[in-house]
Amino acid sequence: MILLQLSYQIPARLLDGVSTLAIVCTQWGDTGKGKFVDFFAEWADIIARGTGGANAGHTIVIGGKTYVFHLIPSGILYDSAGKINVIGNGVAFDPRILIEELAILAQEGLSFNNLLIAHNARLVLPQHILMDRLRENSLDGSRIGTTGRGIGPAYVDHYARVGLTVNDMLNVDSLRRKLERNLAEKRKLLTHYDPLLIQQIMDHPHLGAGAFFHPSKFFDDDAIVEQYLMYGETLRLLIKDTDQILHDAVGKKRILLEGAQGTLLSIDYGTYPFVTASDCSVQGLARGVGIRERHVDRAFGIVKAFYMTRVGEGPFPTEIGGEQSAKWCNDPLTTKDREAELYPDASVNSSDPFEQGIGIRRAGYEYGRTTRRPRRTGWLDLPLLRYSLRYSGRDAILTKLDVLDNCEMIQICTSYRYDGPPYSIGEQQLVPGTMLRIAIPHVEVMRYCVPQYRSFRGWCRNTSDAKAFRELPIQLRELILFVAREADLNIVLLSVGPDREQTIAMETN
Ligand code: IMP
Ligand code: MG
Repeated sequence: MILLQLSYQIPARLLDGVSTLAIVCTQWGDTGKGKFVDFFAEWADIIARGTGGANAGHTIVIGGKTYVFHLIPSGILYDSAGKINVIGNGVAFDPRILIEELAILAQEGLSFNNLLIAHNARLVLPQHILMDRLRENSLDGSRIGTTGRGIGPAYVDHYARVGLTVNDMLNVDSLRRKLERNLAEKRKLLTHYDPLLIQQIMDHPHLGAGAFFHPSKFFDDDAIVEQYLMYGETLRLLIKDTDQILHDAVGKKRILLEGAQGTLLSIDYGTYPFVTASDCSVQGLARGVGIRERHVDRAFGIVKAFYMTRVGEGPFPTEIGGEQSAKWCNDPLTTKDREAELYPDASVNSSDPFEQGIGIRRAGYEYGRTTRRPRRTGWLDLPLLRYSLRYSGRDAILTKLDVLDNCEMIQICTSYRYDGPPYSIGEQQLVPGTMLRIAIPHVEVMRYCVPQYRSFRGWCRNTSDAKAFRELPIQLRELILFVAREADLNIVLLSVGPDREQTIAMETN
């Protein structure tokens, strides 16, 4: 059991009158939500996830030690009596991964007595991981650059009304019946694919290293049933009607809703089709734990500043190094080590944009926790931020401010100039030269948006020890106020490093 040193106090006014708080990301994920979920978990009685699944990767640093979890709620590190961690109904739940993570906790001597799993959460099965990876292997341009965790196909089955839930692992008859029906459909689809490729993917460790493969039927139903019944046995005591628990707690207990991914990856509001399969906005998060959005008293939207990242395919107008960067980052052969070897001198001040992008990636440790992929880097994009605030509200936390400490010139995208063929958005007609202050997240539009930048001189000073806004360099303070004004943000906290202590409260908010 570890004892947390609470050296940073949450300013009480932030949570005045708040019973349910949500922490979401306003960008494409990887903005440092984990730090703040952990931070507010101290305040909360219940910490609940309602979206995503093991596609997420949460890094939490406590006293210099780094933890990476995919499925477990970030608040799990609080052992204090009475706190409850919930994996809600909206999560795509892969029992194998949770069981692995619980084993790590046990090894570290941490407790997980207070973890509950929604009986109605969507179940991720081997066929989902297979379908996800088959699609990503296709050469027809339909690649999304997913994390390969079966998330999309699990939600597809849910909406196609052939999905299984966590509770099915507890009932052998319904498990078998639903699984067989589900697999029968998959087998029909699989006849269109290369059997060798199928076998190769089924050999992947995430698919039981071949344990679920059947040479003529693709899947060994019995092996899957047996394995999932075992998972069910292991998790039985944790599986509950968490919707009821949350319903009873609203307004009475302190609830922290932990977002996954980010608004720009939301299936409903993101840069479709290059998105994940759940709605990662505040609404989606509330729904995914079984409560109403109006019961969320406050939502803090995380904004990484003054750069952004994106993992996988999809439009990214402010990407530093443009196409070259996208290609490099999405190449399966690119690794952190290879990048370090080929571009040892890349820095945040490289004059070549491609190398500058690498320099920023290196300065911010922007390599995927789940996939290890290098994250594409770009400048802060205010049109996209203004757009995503519709779904997360104005209250914001700015993170990773220290990453650009040594950067001499910083660009901020304040608007787009549309430079593509005429395109209709309802009655609005976009023509070359149309200026956009708020992004329109259609791929057909985004791909032709030319960012209009404003340049700012950097501060070139270490900020990671700053304890108050007034201690920050004047250039940085001006930038923060500029972004607040331009995007109409109410900035409540600033983050200048991964540790809890490296957090600054804005005095006025
Ligand atoms: P999926 O969620 O694995 O289906 O992947 C769909 C898209 O969302 C891909 O572009 C992923 O890179 C992206 N994505 C999913 N989870 C995360 C995350 O936690 N951080 C950043 N990107 C993510
Ligand atoms: Mg993450």
